[in-house]
Amino acid sequence: MSEERKATLTIDGKTFDFPILKGVHGNDVIDIRTLGAKTGCFTYDAGFMSTASCQSSITFIDGEKGELLYCGYPIEQLADKCNFLEVAYLLRNRELPNADQKAKFEGTIRKHTLVHDQLTRFYNGFRRDAHPMAVIVGVVGALSAFYHHGMDYSNVEHRDICFQRIIAKLPTIIALAYRYNTGLPFMYPRNDLDYASNFMYMMFGVPSEEYKINPILSRALDIIFTLHADHEQNASTSTVRLAGSSEANPFACVASGISCLWGPAHGGANEACLNMLEEIGDVSRVGEYIKRAKDKNDSFKLMGFGHRIYKNFDPRSKLMGKVCADVLAELGLENNRLFKLAKALEKIALEDDYFVEKKLYPNVDFYSGIVQKALGIPTTMFTCVFALARTAGWLAQWEEMITDPDYKIGRPRQLYIGAARRNVPDIGKR
Ligand code: ACO
Repeated sequence: MSEERKATLTIDGKTFDFPILKGVHGNDVIDIRTLGAKTGCFTYDAGFMSTASCQSSITFIDGEKGELLYCGYPIEQLADKCNFLEVAYLLRNRELPNADQKAKFEGTIRKHTLVHDQLTRFYNGFRRDAHPMAVIVGVVGALSAFYHHGMDYSNVEHRDICFQRIIAKLPTIIALAYRYNTGLPFMYPRNDLDYASNFMYMMFGVPSEEYKINPILSRALDIIFTLHADHEQNASTSTVRLAGSSEANPFACVASGISCLWGPAHGGANEACLNMLEEIGDVSRVGEYIKRAKDKNDSFKLMGFGHRIYKNFDPRSKLMGKVCADVLAELGLENNRLFKLAKALEKIALEDDYFVEKKLYPNVDFYSGIVQKALGIPTTMFTCVFALARTAGWLAQWEEMITDPDYKIGRPRQLYIGAARRNVPDIGKR
């Protein structure tokens, strides 16, 4: 009989045992849920450096090996053999769809691509030059005003509808943000097109001429969606889970995830990376910027480098580098200035002691900006594309949380370091 492993903690001479839980892959965890009650102490772990915030059966990352699995399947195989909608189905259902399930799911998504006409009025409330991430935070949050009454999220069918709606409508909402920003007329979705092609059509088509789909470019965009679809308990996913833990409306929870994703330390890195490449401008200046990135007194960081979990390589960045090369070849842009600059920067940084010692490697955002720019997507829209894809993961994680029998509202504790208890002085003495 296997003996249950325990961790023993000694505080002021008293010992306390805590069970050690084993996952399918990855680090074991010490179950400290009873720690506060047993010992009167909490743990302190700013930035969740050593804390598992939940148990999950969706995504697994091995940062040392540079491995990313969605429901057990390696990201390389999913990117090669599946499309994004199959991946979205997988994340939610934990199994890939069979042929019938795939056809049914894709058909349902196609039928939900339109947004309520009233929702399009929201765009007029924004400045034309508003950042599109600010716009989609607002508009996606506003979906909760359209789909709230009568929704019972303990009902699986209601959760089904919610998942289908958001996956289907996000491309429309994001394309509308772009069209509003540029002043181009809104394009209604075309339900005869696949998911990525329809997004390209709504972004770049015009009513006055036929829009020709380039299947190579659509497929590249679809792979980008797959690479970004989920990434276990990252900052934005944890934000969605925390917001959802109060039983908030899931569309509002996704809006909170979009807000978190926007930051340059997270999804905003692809935009920041492209801006950085533009600023560097030429291979001859790479050394100067590498020097700045290493300078402790300079806040400059090499955008698109480094990751909390991956300490070997980010498997998504390898795939993204390949997608980038394919797209540039298709468009005859092999000699693209920024691509060459990125290659040179990557090579120099990978050989530099500072980056080698700190295990800083290109992350998924390093090449995603270049490939998106080549597809015609403007820089400010890059993180919106990321949000579109990540919505599949956010909703799968939200559902996993609210259907978990152990689920509780998220409520971290703190180590209070403010003023000790004191009395408010009388007004004359202040
Ligand atoms: N350039 C230069 N130095 C860096 C970089 C970088 N890109 N990233 C980390 N470092 C240094 C830090 O200064 C720190 O140095 P120190 O130990 O001397 O203080 C050390 O490496 C460890 O870095 P942390 O910031 O502590 O690592 P953490 O895991 O907290 O942060 C993060 C990871 C936020 C991704 C960080 O590497 C970063 O800011 N990178 C640039 C932004 C970026 O590309 N973000 C996208 C992440 S992927 C995604 O969200 C899809």
